[in-house]
This record gives sequence, C-alpha cells and structure tokens, in this order.
Amino acid sequence: MEVKAIDWGASGTVRLLDQTLLPGEVRYLDIGSTDQMIEAIKLLRVRGAPLIGIAAAMELAVAAERRSTGGGGSDQAALEWLDDTARGLRGARPTAVNLAWAVDRMAARGSAALDSGGEEELASALREEAQKIWDEDAEMCRAIGDAGAEVVQRGAAILTHCNAGRLATGGVGTALGVIYAAHDQGKDVRVYVDETRPLNQGSRLTAWELTESGIPCTVITDSMAATLMASGSLDMVVVGADRIAANGDIANKIGTYGLAVLADAHGIPFYSAAPSSTFDLSLEAGSEIPIEQRAREEVATAEGAEVFNPAFDITPARLITGIITDRGIVKSPSRESIRKMFADQESGATA
Ligand code: MRU
Repeated sequence: MEVKAIDWGASGTVRLLDQTLLPGEVRYLDIGSTDQMIEAIKLLRVRGAPLIGIAAAMELAVAAERRSTGGGGSDQAALEWLDDTARGLRGARPTAVNLAWAVDRMAARGSAALDSGGEEELASALREEAQKIWDEDAEMCRAIGDAGAEVVQRGAAILTHCNAGRLATGGVGTALGVIYAAHDQGKDVRVYVDETRPLNQGSRLTAWELTESGIPCTVITDSMAATLMASGSLDMVVVGADRIAANGDIANKIGTYGLAVLADAHGIPFYSAAPSSTFDLSLEAGSEIPIEQRAREEVATAEGAEVFNPAFDITPARLITGIITDRGIVKSPSRESIRKMFADQESGATA
C-alpha cells in the first residue's frame, strides 16, 4: 500500500492522512500549528497508539523550526516553550501511553540540546529524535510481525478489532503486522474484521488497509463475534494495545475485553500485539490505566438519552494467551514474565 498515514510536510508542517474521511476519500492535511495537531489527535484524524506518539514528536520538531524561523529567544524561554508545547501535546489523549512516552522522550532530547548547544541546536535535535522514534517504531512493527507469524497456523481464520495496522503505527502495524507477516509467508490467512463501534475503525480503516494489500477480509458487526466463534470457523483473535500494565492487563479499543471473554469461552487463542513503547511498568494493574471518555455525539441516540462512551476497555492478563512484542512473545503474561522481558524499562516507565 503506497498511502502513508504521516510524513514530513513543507517547511514547518506535518502531513497527515485524514483518517476520519476513509475509506471514501484519501485527503492529506498540512498541519502547521500545535493547536491543529492537538485537534487532529483529539478528533482521530490521526490515531492509533504508536502513530499519535510519532505525530506529536514530529509536531514538536516542526514547531521548533517555526520558532527558530520566527527569531527564537533566550535558552530559558526556549525551555519554557518546550515544556508548554510538550504538555499540550501530551494531554491530547490519555489512554495510549505511546503519546506520553514519545513526548517525554522529545522533551528530554530538546532540553539536552538546549544545555549543550543552546537554541541553535534545538530544532535539528528534535527532528532527529522524532525521525528516530518513527524509524524505531517501523522496526518494532517488523519484529512483532516476525514473532507473531510463528503462532499463526496455515489457513488460519483470524479476528481483529479496531485498526492496529499501517494507519495506526509508523510501520506495518502490530496486530496487522502479524497478519501481513503470515500472509507474506504464504500462510493463506483469512481475516474477520470487527466493525468496532462507535467510530468503525475496523470496517472503515482495517478493511480498507487489508483490501489495499490484497488480503481477503470479511467485516462483521461487533455483536456477531459470539456467533462467529460458536460456528467453529475462527482460529485466533489478534488485537493491538494502547497501554500494558506491569501485570499484563491491556487497555485497547472498547470491545476488546468482550472478545477476550468470548474467546476464552470458546477455547480460541487470544493475542495482543504491541511494541515495547506500549508497556507502562509504572502501573501495577490495568485498573490504574486512565480510560478516555468520548463525546455523546459519537453514539447515535434519542436526544434525551444519556450516553456511556468509554473509548477503551481493560482485558485482564488471565484472558490473554500471549502478548506479541518486538522482543518475542510473552506467553500467559504475568508480572514475572513481563518483568523478565522488560527489566530495562522498569525505571523509565511513564504515567
Ligand atoms: O481510538 P483509536 O482508533 O486511536 O484506538 C486505537 C486502538 O485501540 C488500537 O488497537 C491501538 O491503538 C493499537 S494501534 C497499533
């Protein structure tokens, strides 16, 4: 698929594919201010845990370029500007830890550049760091695909939820990265795509991505998953994750928990795929993960009715067969198995 979800734009801008218009229209937006980027993240024009981290990192870099073109200021003023801009971007969405992780990493790099070379070094250091975050994510997606393809049987029918593919990451995706890798190995996989109410990231985005890549897929509404599993025609479930706590509980798109319960009831393996940047070892359990509540307008209903619209839910580790990461698969995830694989990340966790 040639379409890119994100790119560097003309000077001082980031190019975003407006995902709210897909699959009907492929339109790019040139984001030229931090407020515009925050709005694009909030409105899900750009979305997916790793990709919003990359988008925020790229925005910080081009914002520094705009600042230096505008004349800059003292190093102290630059540091205050960096803190403020980082805080605004960090707060755009609360659940995916990749956003906070990427922004904090950019702020640390920016502050080190100001210390060593003053404002002259800021913009180039930030652009280099943002590109690194993007490149590393692409590499992690590739590694997740390689690790995950091993647990995909030839001819497998796989159910996925939301969109955890090229439109959600800096590379081929996490859950879809596994599917692409299995497909590339000639495993002849078939994909069932959950519609993913209320914003339909499955039926709009994943179905578009898979058809563009020539992978056969069948869309179901979220309420059909139980019937699909009971029919005996499903072999595994693979989803992404927005944040993973130290005990292996995962936050992912609303509806994921229901799928895990159903998969458990039908004896179907349930996998989550995520890069190292999605693990938040500062949180003991999924109950500590902040869950984004979204506007009532996203759910069509009668004017007087109240709406409960959490964007994510928590799937407990006990329902997860394995977490597929860029470092390998954490089977039957637990505090011990996660600590073993991510010991080096324990002190650097992000709240
Ligand atoms: O609200 P969204 O569309 O940003 O939610 C995205 C998901 O839940 C994905 O499954 C998750 O971010 C993993 S993306 C590789």
